[in-house]
Amino acid sequence: MSHNLLKGKKGIIFGALDEKSIAWITALKCHEEGAEIVLTNAPVAMRMGEINKLAEKINAPVIPCDVSNAEDVDNLITKAMEHFGGKFDFILHSIGMSLNVRKGKHYTEIDYGFNTKTMDISAMSLHRVLANCMKKDALNDWSSVIALTYIAAQRVFPDYNEMADAKSLLESVARSFGYHYGVKKHVRVNTISQSPTRTTAGSGVKGFDGFISYAEKMSPLGNASAEDCANYCVVMFSDMTKMVTMQNLFHDGGFSNTGVTQEIIDQMEK
Ligand SMILES: NC(=O)c1ccc[n+]([C@@H]2O[C@H](COP(=O)([O-])OP(=O)(O)OC[C@H]3O[C@@H](n4cnc5c(N)ncnc54)[C@H](O)[C@@H]3O)[C@@H](O)[C@H]2O)c1
Repeated sequence: MSHNLLKGKKGIIFGALDEKSIAWITALKCHEEGAEIVLTNAPVAMRMGEINKLAEKINAPVIPCDVSNAEDVDNLITKAMEHFGGKFDFILHSIGMSLNVRKGKHYTEIDYGFNTKTMDISAMSLHRVLANCMKKDALNDWSSVIALTYIAAQRVFPDYNEMADAKSLLESVARSFGYHYGVKKHVRVNTISQSPTRTTAGSGVKGFDGFISYAEKMSPLGNASAEDCANYCVVMFSDMTKMVTMQNLFHDGGFSNTGVTQEIIDQMEK
């Protein structure tokens, strides 16, 4: 059921790879709530062609952009403004990529060249996008920017590897840029720290099955689904959360504040 929470709002959604992607489901929800959307993803990810199905459903243009490439980002923001006929109101940064994980490198033996690329794609890309928007004055006052993150930025999850460092950097960029954009234009920048979710990026983490069922048992409400996350993004893009900025918002069924649950104790006593 639509509440028209985003009626009249326009935004860019990064990272819809396939129908399991958090960005894909968020794009559908934003459309349902009345928003106009521009979709984007890395050219290599778009070769699968899946994104066109989503684009058709929500009547959105698709503009390719590798976020590690400044020219691509510049082109995306310019084209999005042309499409919208001016400024827009929200951005979802739903991008994660670790070359060391892909190549099976252990955290203690990472390749630093790969690591630089991981930081660039997964974290500094948020800075690049925001800096380009600020330069062009692309975002309306009180716009809302969300980047998706994971609790491995605060606590150790051994197999999350260098992505833990990338998420720490991402959260820091959200805070720091959030300060400057807030002062200048009342633009809000937050991160949402999501439960483990079965998507292409999520399943890339070693031991993901164990990981996701442990989190389920450790969360009083259970794991938050991709659909729950999409709903939270909608609320964060709406004017109902106008004064929330520079925060890391846990969206994890209570996992982040739980020491242990009875279910885990029972299992340990078996
Ligand atoms: N799935 C989980 O368990 C989980 C939990 C917490 C946070 N997150 C975060 O949610 C976000 C979305 O991931 P997802 O789980 O929906 O997986 P996903 O694989 O569907 O999405 C990741 C996206 O990043 C895009 N991407 C990679 N390199 C890029 C580049 N150079 N330029 C532009 N785009 C690029 C991919 O094409 C893909 O669309 C990521 O930031 C991820 O770290 C995921």
